[in-house]
Amino acid sequence: MTAESELRPAVVVVGGSRGIGKAIADVAARDGVAVVLVARSPDDLAAAADDILTAGGEVFTVALDLLTDDAAVQIESFLSANGLFCDVLVNSAGYGLRGSATLLPVGDQVGIVDLNIRALTDLTLRFLPGMVARGRGGVINLGSVASFTPGPYMALYYASKGFVRSFSEALHQELQRTGVTVTCVAPGPVSTEFLERSGANRAALFKVLPKVDSHYVAERAWRGFKSGRRLVIPGISAKLAIVVTSLLPSAILLPLIGRLQRRSNDPCPCGSGKKYKACHGVRRGSAERVVSKRG
Ligand SMILES: NC(=O)c1ccc[n+]([C@@H]2O[C@H](COP(=O)([O-])OP(=O)(O)OC[C@H]3O[C@@H](n4cnc5c(N)ncnc54)[C@H](OP(=O)(O)O)[C@@H]3O)[C@@H](O)[C@H]2O)c1
Repeated sequence: MTAESELRPAVVVVGGSRGIGKAIADVAARDGVAVVLVARSPDDLAAAADDILTAGGEVFTVALDLLTDDAAVQIESFLSANGLFCDVLVNSAGYGLRGSATLLPVGDQVGIVDLNIRALTDLTLRFLPGMVARGRGGVINLGSVASFTPGPYMALYYASKGFVRSFSEALHQELQRTGVTVTCVAPGPVSTEFLERSGANRAALFKVLPKVDSHYVAERAWRGFKSGRRLVIPGISAKLAIVVTSLLPSAILLPLIGRLQRRSNDPCPCGSGKKYKACHGVRRGSAERVVSKRG
């Protein structure tokens, strides 16, 4: 094993094989620092690593499911075996599910807690003490505009992002004057596979809200982190969405989000097995009508 003084700094991006994580890895690699990409799919990792190598960067890949018990230990072992230490941790692995919490598979929903909360917390708490001892580096945690409100029909996802923002902002404060920064990035919808995989892109809310590019988010995340920001909200539409959620009372906001995230063709949460519209006698939702008129 290499002595601590001989280790080189690395940016460790979990969820770095595609989407926002890959875009942050590209930006970090351009800064001339070694990047370690962690995700499950070896093919996606290889493709992401190729892009960094082609651009002249230095990259390592770790094919790993973060839901395995010793995932953080495996990452630590990989780093020390390759003469690296985690200077910056980017927690970008995460997923969400749209649908009624009473009908979506329990295991898949608890998986959101395991990945978006438990794995992120485990990695953050394991790597922070070393950063504080060195007086440098930090953590970028991917939150969301969803962290500012409960989200009916994506209940677990919004709740998990609420945790991420609260945890990250508290750590940012605790680490003042240590040389270490924890930055929470809270984008609105970003054009990545997340929207399709989570089913979010079938909801009126995600059709109405403008989407930003993952590279736009990555540039702002990296720049915000480097300047020690507690919270980065990339783009005007995300900032506006947060202002609106903070101004509306919950009695108005939660039914509104529920209506915009539920589809009338979804199964009804009552468990009757009927579609929502059949159970409640609703016509096709006005939110869906507005969206289809816009094409
Ligand atoms: N896209 C949006 O609209 C949006 C908006 C706000 C916030 N966010 C947040 O930003 C983060 C990144 O989202 P994204 O849009 O980039 O998603 P994405 O395109 O689906 O990418 C997710 C990344 O996480 C990895 N991953 C997923 N499950 C994993 C596991 N069990 N173990 C290891 N790696 C895993 C994926 O690779 P493998 O599948 O190969 O493992 C992939 O690299 C998430 O936390 C998301 O909640 C996204």
